[in-house]
Amino acid sequence: MIILDIAMLISILINILADSSIPALKGNLMCKITAFITNMTACYVNWLMANYGVVNLKRVGTSLISTLIQIQEACHSTNYPMTFEQIDHPYGYVIYTTTLQTAGKNLSTPHIKDFGYVFLNNVYQGMLNKGNPTSINLNGANAGDILRILVENGGRQAYWTINDYKGLFNTTFDGITLQNWIQCGVNLTEASINSLTGNFDSIIEDNSEDLSSLAATSQPGVFTGQFTANQLQDTFFNSTGWGKGQLFVNGFNLGRYWPLYGPQVNDKIE
Ligand SMILES: *[C@@H]1O[C@H](CO)[C@@H](O)[C@H](O)[C@H]1NC(C)=O
Ligand SMILES: *[C@@H]1O[C@H](CO)[C@@H](O)[C@H](O)[C@H]1NC(C)=O
Ligand SMILES: *[C@@H]1O[C@H](CO)[C@@H](O)[C@H](O)[C@H]1NC(C)=O
Ligand SMILES: *[C@@H]1O[C@H](CO)[C@@H](O)[C@H](O)[C@H]1NC(C)=O
Ligand SMILES: *[C@@H]1O[C@H](CO)[C@@H](O)[C@H](O)[C@H]1NC(C)=O
Repeated sequence: MIILDIAMLISILINILADSSIPALKGNLMCKITAFITNMTACYVNWLMANYGVVNLKRVGTSLISTLIQIQEACHSTNYPMTFEQIDHPYGYVIYTTTLQTAGKNLSTPHIKDFGYVFLNNVYQGMLNKGNPTSINLNGANAGDILRILVENGGRQAYWTINDYKGLFNTTFDGITLQNWIQCGVNLTEASINSLTGNFDSIIEDNSEDLSSLAATSQPGVFTGQFTANQLQDTFFNSTGWGKGQLFVNGFNLGRYWPLYGPQVNDKIE
């Protein structure tokens, strides 16, 4: 766990260093923030130091999956899940999809690396973690249901093994190995993230997926908001009260936040 945290910290430091020369964050400029949120306890951004205040966020689309599908890369169909490395998508997120052939309960991914967000017909079921838990109860799942697992690379090991392959690996449902997977990397480039939020004022709720509005409000998703940086000053994002996710400002990837585990509770932006 400590190894993972150091890797995450380094990757975030690299992101911040790379972003420190962004002129867009210096001066009186309109900034657009975008966040993937897995937990909806707080749906606002608290900017400190420069005192940009609280930014209200609004949801883009109905579910995290239906929105991320809009920025997925070329997909690969195989019998057993491919690794991130096999599909040439070494970092970030990959969406794994299959159709259940039987009803059942116990979805088990003993070799998952590193995290998996499980969706059944685009409704969030919970998180798999290479540490614990590597299984989840899909009570009420039926044959024909669409199972999607958004797998996240949590950072590469600096030692122990150089072959730190990421992905879903063999996955069973009530003991039967699931086959016929489609895997698609999520494109997190600046242009791609900006394409999701486009013109902020004209964000259209994507209702193409069948999801009740009640379920949608408690579901993870992509959220976006705007603030004006009216003075040239360092600032940071206070993630206290948030779940787990990824933060972008003006399409630039600032890295992950996960205040429950840290270490990065306040993502600093210069
Ligand atoms: C990611 O998105 C950008 C912008 O749309 C595009 O130029 C690039 O080719 C995409 N990358 C992949 C691997 O699909
Ligand atoms: C799923 O099955 C595995 C193996 O029998 C077991 O260890 C695990 O606790 C089960 N998970 C759930 C959520 O029931
Ligand atoms: C997954 O299952 C396939 C087919 O049974 C097998 O060839 C492969 O070795 C398994 N991989 C892992 C990581 O268990
Ligand atoms: C972050 O926000 C929380 C909740 O609003 C607040 O209690 C805490 O003091 C803030 N952290 C910092 C470093 O200001
Ligand atoms: C959401 O996050 C808060 C704070 O990190 C935590 O207390 C709460 O249990 C989480 N809720 C869910 C459903 O994960």
